[in-house]
Amino acid sequence: MTQSSRDRATAGDGPPASTVSPRDAAAAETLLLGGSLTVEGRLVQASNATLYCSVEHDGISAHCVYKPVAGERPLWDFPDGTLAEREVAAYEVSKEMGWGTVPPTVHRDGPYGPGMVQLWVEPDPDIDLVTLSRSDEDSIRRMAVFDAVVNNADRKIGHLLPPGDGHVYGCDHGVCFSVEYKLRTVLWQWRGKPLTSEALEALTRVSKALRDGSLATRLAELLTPEEVDAARRRVDLMLKHRIHPYPPEDWPAIPWPPL
Ligand SMILES: Nc1ncnc2c1ncn2[C@@H]1O[C@H](COP(=O)(O)OP(=O)(O)O)[C@@H](O)[C@H]1O
Ligand SMILES: [Mg+2]
Repeated sequence: MTQSSRDRATAGDGPPASTVSPRDAAAAETLLLGGSLTVEGRLVQASNATLYCSVEHDGISAHCVYKPVAGERPLWDFPDGTLAEREVAAYEVSKEMGWGTVPPTVHRDGPYGPGMVQLWVEPDPDIDLVTLSRSDEDSIRRMAVFDAVVNNADRKIGHLLPPGDGHVYGCDHGVCFSVEYKLRTVLWQWRGKPLTSEALEALTRVSKALRDGSLATRLAELLTPEEVDAARRRVDLMLKHRIHPYPPEDWPAIPWPPL
């Protein structure tokens, strides 16, 4: 655990850093779903009860975030008690897109009841997140496409997690999948620009999986039918226009504070 993450947690040095890679989705999901969860601290910057935990199963251990549904702060624009499921739905979309944007995330019971559990990704403290958020990096551009698909209403700079291997993960996807267009993000640098061919391929895959693949079934367990329909419409609109979306006109386009 580095100084930066220790600052964010209020307590505890747990087991050594993740022994399962966020790139190994199957192993990470098995650990997160079946492991015993120990709360080590609370993330002080979080707006919900966001707990820093260790998870252990069959000799494998890792750090993770646990957000119990009971600790969700009520919001005026999202139904109560649904943020954990939205986080898992965002992970399912990320898996289908194939870019590993969201660290492995599951829904399970825990010491404070059901909630979402997500593998901890330790960000490289030497990477400047403001610079990264304004960059032309492929991983950031992919995140912008992903955010448009899930309709992320809260992509802040502090939600970028670069472990230092060139990849960038994103966290905090509780306020996604609104039926209304609510994209609110710090990543507008590609607005109106043509989507890359890899983005069009990923969107085509998601569009298909939202119609007949397992993604439709999985999302139906986590979201309302209207929210799944809206996701399908957003993907199809992007495939039709083949550009990164523009900011909504009736909604603040940048989260505040942006960090
Ligand atoms: N999977 C994760 N790996 C590493 N850090 C994380 C992870 N999830 C959250 N964090 C850190 O914890 C902070 C608070 O988590 P966040 O998901 O934003 O909670 P909240 O929903 O309460 O805003 C994030 O800004 C980030 O710094
Ligand atoms: Mg947050």
